[in-house]
Amino acid sequence: MSVRLDLKHLSSFVGKNEYTAIAPQIRQAHEALHSGNCVGNDFIGWVNLPTDYDKEEFSRIKAAAEKIKSDTDVFIVIGIGGSYLGSRAAIEFLNSQNYNSLKKNTPDIYFTGNSISSTALSEILQLCEGRDVSINMISKSGTTTEPAIAFRVLRKLLEEKYGKVEARKRIYCTTDKARGTLKQLATKEGYETFVIPDDVGGRYSVLTAVGLLPIAVSGADIDALMSGAAKAQKELNNSDLDSNACYQYVAARNLLYRKGKDIEVLVSYEPCYTMMCEWWKQLFGESEGKDNKGLFPASVVFSTDLHSMGQYIQDGRRSLFETVVLFDKAKTDLFIETDPENVDGLNFLQGKSMAYINEKAFEGTVLAHADGGVPSVVLHAPDFSEETLGYLIYFFEKACAISGSLLGVNPFNQPGVESYKKNMFALLGKPGYESEKGALEARLKN
Ligand code: PA5
Repeated sequence: MSVRLDLKHLSSFVGKNEYTAIAPQIRQAHEALHSGNCVGNDFIGWVNLPTDYDKEEFSRIKAAAEKIKSDTDVFIVIGIGGSYLGSRAAIEFLNSQNYNSLKKNTPDIYFTGNSISSTALSEILQLCEGRDVSINMISKSGTTTEPAIAFRVLRKLLEEKYGKVEARKRIYCTTDKARGTLKQLATKEGYETFVIPDDVGGRYSVLTAVGLLPIAVSGADIDALMSGAAKAQKELNNSDLDSNACYQYVAARNLLYRKGKDIEVLVSYEPCYTMMCEWWKQLFGESEGKDNKGLFPASVVFSTDLHSMGQYIQDGRRSLFETVVLFDKAKTDLFIETDPENVDGLNFLQGKSMAYINEKAFEGTVLAHADGGVPSVVLHAPDFSEETLGYLIYFFEKACAISGSLLGVNPFNQPGVESYKKNMFALLGKPGYESEKGALEARLKN
């Protein structure tokens, strides 16, 4: 079930000696992480999370998911960044981008509070009309503006629809154990709450209640998800570069970065992986991009984007490398049938499966991109099961933490995110930001 890494499409870009040279730095980063002596060590609760989690809460999550499945048509997940990307990615990976339109006996699931678009939030309100609704408000800090606005609107909707007492049974809050506005509000109103552990940051939190409740509501097996992550926790807990696929990935991307390949494009050949790419972009972008350093994470889905971004990747600025995630087994396969008229000229494909054609698309592309100066790291995963997903989540979380350490940044904080908030609050006239307001408005006028 483990994932495998294939570095052969890097061989003309990175030499064996370079892996040998970087191995001691990776060993050092591994030891610092596992001994708890790394930078940002108050946020490394995710390292042992797949085996060391609150089992009582885990049962409560399953019970809440069962209740939601039984009394809810529309389940609304409110959260931004690490408070929604992981669960949305998991639901689409395990089901489809079209999860809500599929025939199913689980609720539709919509995500909101991840923008300040009134149009997007109004749409969600419309989708709730005439249907039974439950909501999961997710915010570790409990003070993030985007989800807080959506929660205010949706709480009101639920209270008007069901009355305060019934609404209370349909509102679930996932937040900090003790501190924060959301925790206070949930306690006051009597909402069921789930905890985001203090030592797990937002983008590393998909295997906490943040991800687990929405994922369980979609009907997925969260025991299997955790067991896949636990397998990764065990298999990737050694500092030997020759046997640890996660650390080989870390080495390859860091060596490429040093050679000026500072844009990493995550590539998938499956549309259901699109949101996993978004989750991965947040994980790496927010963890590594600081102190004027870091690889820029981008993503594409092929062959779709070969018809949009393919030209740039083949032929544009040579600052890219690709990390391709492939799956050994398609979820569902289709075969090309013969057509006696063959007007479309496709009979040369008769009897071939689409999975096979997709594989040839990958092979043709990886060679073309290598010829164009774009190296590829290839990650093979077995299937689209919960176990594989859990494994992949842990694989990337660990790769991200070790990569940040190699770059010399703290991979667990996000100080840069505060800058826009400070300006926005000042411009909106939030108490406490009065002194900045005038200067910012003057800058906007000039
Ligand atoms: O990774 C992070 O910490 C962030 O992306 C947060 O998840 C995001 O800003 C949302 O924060 P909160 O859960 O406190 O509302």
